[in-house]
Amino acid sequence: MDIAARAFRYLDRRYRLREPLEYQLNKRIPAHLNWTNCFGGITFVCFAVQALTGILLAFYYKPTLPEAYQSVLRIMEEVPFGAFVRGLHAWTANVMIFMATLHMLKVFFISAYRPPREFTWVSGVFLFFVTVTFGFSGYLLPMNQLAYWATTVGAEIAGAFPFVGEYARLFLLGGGKIGGETLTRFYALHVLVLPAAIIVLLAAHFSMIRRQGISEPL
Ligand code: HEM
Repeated sequence: MDIAARAFRYLDRRYRLREPLEYQLNKRIPAHLNWTNCFGGITFVCFAVQALTGILLAFYYKPTLPEAYQSVLRIMEEVPFGAFVRGLHAWTANVMIFMATLHMLKVFFISAYRPPREFTWVSGVFLFFVTVTFGFSGYLLPMNQLAYWATTVGAEIAGAFPFVGEYARLFLLGGGKIGGETLTRFYALHVLVLPAAIIVLLAAHFSMIRRQGISEPL
């Protein structure tokens, strides 16, 4: 018996893994599914890539005003595979937003938001918001010109909201203008708040999908 089978038997004796595993692996895929049903799954794969590459980047990135830009330069020029990992993180961020948009359009056009899937849709709306906020908060982190001006525009847009706009702008920037406080806030959002939020939302999204199954055509 090879080592994998022995390891499985060892774990199976203790945790009875065979039955739930066989149930998952032998589940029949409903006949009405097609390639457009992969959009949600591809979005999730993007998230997994982001989590992995994000952790690798966090080993070298320094979230302070004088060091942020220099640390990104170091990642690009000195860290082994640094440029590759950073490129993958930046590109996959765009692909994730694109795929989440396609997924949302697909479930909208097949009316999959209808009862009993209202809360799957609502959790999806929050997931979309969190995904876009991931992109926005990550954009500032390199602290280059592009980051500075994109965040300035984003904060101005938030500031234009009636009544709460000015508070939202102050909250985002951590003061009157972009600086060290802003970077600390965006970094905390990017690596603490949003990852926690997306994990909770994904757990809710997936558990509802598991319970209700994929919707059937109208
Ligand atoms: C991080 C973002 C997201 C991930 C990883 C994700 C993942 C998934 C997966 C894997 C499925 C099952 C397969 C499928 O039908 O595509 C699914 C279904 C669904 N998702 Fe998402 N999703 C995300 C965002 C959204 C958004 C933005 C919405 C809408 C606002 C949404 C609404 C739904 C609905 C209604 C279903 C049920 C579809 C059906 O039963 O036919 N999801 N999602």
